[in-house]
Amino acid sequence: MQLPPHTPIENPDRVINFMVRTVWGLTDPVRFYQLMDEARALCSPATYLGDNMFLWGRSNSPFEDPRFVAAWESNVQNDADRAIAWRRYILACAAYHCAQLEGDFVECGVYRGTSIKTIVDYFGKENFDKTFWGYDTYDYNPVEHHAFAGQQDGLFNEILQRFDGYDCVRLVKGLLPQSLENNSPEKIALLHIDLNSAEFEIAVLDALFDRVVPGGMIVLDDYEWGGQYREQKMAEDAWFDQRKYRVFPLPTGQGLVLKR
Ligand SMILES: C[S@@+](CC[C@H](N)C(=O)[O-])C[C@H]1O[C@@H](n2cnc3c(N)ncnc32)[C@H](O)[C@@H]1O
Repeated sequence: MQLPPHTPIENPDRVINFMVRTVWGLTDPVRFYQLMDEARALCSPATYLGDNMFLWGRSNSPFEDPRFVAAWESNVQNDADRAIAWRRYILACAAYHCAQLEGDFVECGVYRGTSIKTIVDYFGKENFDKTFWGYDTYDYNPVEHHAFAGQQDGLFNEILQRFDGYDCVRLVKGLLPQSLENNSPEKIALLHIDLNSAEFEIAVLDALFDRVVPGGMIVLDDYEWGGQYREQKMAEDAWFDQRKYRVFPLPTGQGLVLKR
């Protein structure tokens, strides 16, 4: 597959700060952002504030990769999509690695398809020569109290239209893990799991982990988040421990597993 080219940094002194006023779990957002505005003024650049991360003194690599910036920005559909730029860049970098391996890409938990489309656009749909499988119930959310905006009759058709012209993307509508039966790849290079449910994520790992090729990657979107998501981490740590794997906990809230 033709890989997205590296763009050398022309001006090492150029600073790209990033700030989105979308974070979760705040008791007093107004006060929080007053304090963060003050804190950012005290920090060395570059800064990143969004998706419950506050960073300073960083390169802010996602924004120094123009191919990524174009793919990410053109697919932003809501405030959350904008805030999670760094999470998307982790996926884009994992995709860059996995594109060079045998096997397809799989996402379990697609919603509006933004992560799949961002990755494919990063490569360019004409260059993307794997199949990217996307599994979701789409029109409803089977995880209690977790329905996202627009999850109702008609969403699947809308998402199919969003991928019009993307022959490399295969969207499968149905409840996981049953929807994988006779309708999933034998070899997987990249597996992205984003179901917001310990039970369903473990069921997907049971079904797909052995199909991930050596050197392949698994990204667990919610692994390192606190609160209600802790259940997922605890179940996944126990599951991977049995197989002698450790999940890399990323400050983005994701977890990363490198398959042997
Ligand atoms: C957080 S969203 C996915 C977001 C998407 N990965 C992105 O980055 O834009 C989670 C999705 O998982 C789906 N989901 C949860 N449990 C599922 C199951 N057992 N089978 C199919 N889809 C499921 C929900 O319908 C929802 O659309």
